[in-house]
Amino acid sequence: MEFKTNILGIGAGYVGGPSMVMIAAKCPDCKVTVVDINPQRIAAWNSDQLPVYEPGLEELVQKTRGKNLFFSTELEKAISENDMIFVCVNTPTKTFGAGAGMAADLQYWEQTARQILENAQSSKIVIEKSTLPIKTAQAMERILNSGKGNITFDVLSNPEFMAEGTAVSDLENPDRVLIGSRETESGLAARARLVEIYSHWIKPEKILTSNIWSAELSKLVANAFLAQRVSSINSISALCEKADADISEVAKAVGTDSRIGSKFLQAGVGFGGSCFKKDILNLVYLCHFYGLPEVAAYWESVVKMNDYQQRRFIANILRSMFNTLAGKKVCVMGFSFKADTGDTRESPALYITRMLLEEHAEVVITDPKALKNAADDLKRDKGKIQYREDPYEAAAGCHALVILTDWNVYKTLDYQRIYTSMVKPAFIFDGRNIVDLQKCFEIGFNVFPVGKPAWTHF
Ligand code: NAD
Ligand code: UGA
Repeated sequence: MEFKTNILGIGAGYVGGPSMVMIAAKCPDCKVTVVDINPQRIAAWNSDQLPVYEPGLEELVQKTRGKNLFFSTELEKAISENDMIFVCVNTPTKTFGAGAGMAADLQYWEQTARQILENAQSSKIVIEKSTLPIKTAQAMERILNSGKGNITFDVLSNPEFMAEGTAVSDLENPDRVLIGSRETESGLAARARLVEIYSHWIKPEKILTSNIWSAELSKLVANAFLAQRVSSINSISALCEKADADISEVAKAVGTDSRIGSKFLQAGVGFGGSCFKKDILNLVYLCHFYGLPEVAAYWESVVKMNDYQQRRFIANILRSMFNTLAGKKVCVMGFSFKADTGDTRESPALYITRMLLEEHAEVVITDPKALKNAADDLKRDKGKIQYREDPYEAAAGCHALVILTDWNVYKTLDYQRIYTSMVKPAFIFDGRNIVDLQKCFEIGFNVFPVGKPAWTHF
């Protein structure tokens, strides 16, 4: 079959996988190929065990794979055969050299630019889907246009706003799609071609176009604003605990102001995930680079508040359990950084588990989807760690439950059954404010939520 457009996604991760799957599902007239340097990842995309868990994703893959969606490791061939290339490679925080711990590590991205240059035999539209520092498109253009010959490259910025756990619905029905381009004749033509792809399923008013630098910056700013709301509510949760106020009541009262809005005001153990911290630190680095130390300090405080919230949570566990955890068994309920994903990158559970191990607690971890990643993350950590799929088995014989992920299943557990199987006095540290406080208290638990008075029998 002849396809109207050949589209390539480079990087088959949490973003490249689902976003290319959605394009294939919505654009039957396009052939979509997804490549990765990691052969295991590609093999998993070609199997029944997808490398990424997202509700609804498997069904879409089954509908499209082998028809207009293909996963491959043949990067060079794929570059030469496709004329629209989405770059979805990882851009983690740099761990070495200048800007270590803050700036984005652009080595994967630059490697991709060079691979595109080496293997392109015709002109291409190259689309930044990875989250990148402002002005990266300029560097990309410089690398791509360093070749000889008549081939031209138009670079677009099309940052992705999907969240994990809701990737399919976010991609199917996004608040907006943002496409930034150069405002030259060929830049605008490239922009129009990408608009045409998204127009297969997205209404024109939701497709925003802008200059390329605005698009790059908007992505960092959107994540910074979202994370800032989480840090703001978490900072107030600390005050609530001191002043006998209830953070859920405060969040509701504040969030019903339509100018403020109710979303992203859930207090808890702090934000995790591969992007919030990385993108804010990247923004902070850029502010320093452009000589704006006050702006940098303002945004850095969002990350500092998140660290404080996690430290505060673990200090509360220690204090409430009579200042010693040594030899006590603690059940960590939930290891992924949020519900409905198996992703554990920067998960608060990782930090909190390490603190529990440092206090010589024995840790039993349970999670519906993240146990394999948890075991990978902790493989070098010393201490007693067990992994149990079944939450009832995990909790049996423990002194405390520490709820770290907002999985729905933890809202409806039989806490009476769990209480019966635990060592007394039994504690719940609800880092997501999801259990019924009064009910658990009446069962016999000492319950410590975030930003609300504790319910204790002492
Ligand atoms: P990821 O680590 O899951 O996936 C990146 C993939 O790129 C990996 O599989 C890696 O093997 C591959 N890769 C690296 N270099 C390559 C190369 N030269 N050629 C081919 N493949 C290569 O990362 P992710 O979570 O998908 O994030 C990717 C980008 O998207 C990041 O910039 C991130 O900030 C951004 N983003 C992520 C999310 C999210 O929810 N995870 C949402 C929006 C934006
Ligand atoms: C976030 C953004 O929401 C996406 O728009 C963005 O595309 C993505 O980052 C990215 O660039 O990677 P994600 O990290 O997948 O998505 O998940 P979120 O729903 O934003 O949650 C992030 C963290 O904040 C989680 O740990 C979550 O539990 C926490 N959170 C969120 C709270 O503690 N309280 C809230 O009210 C909301």
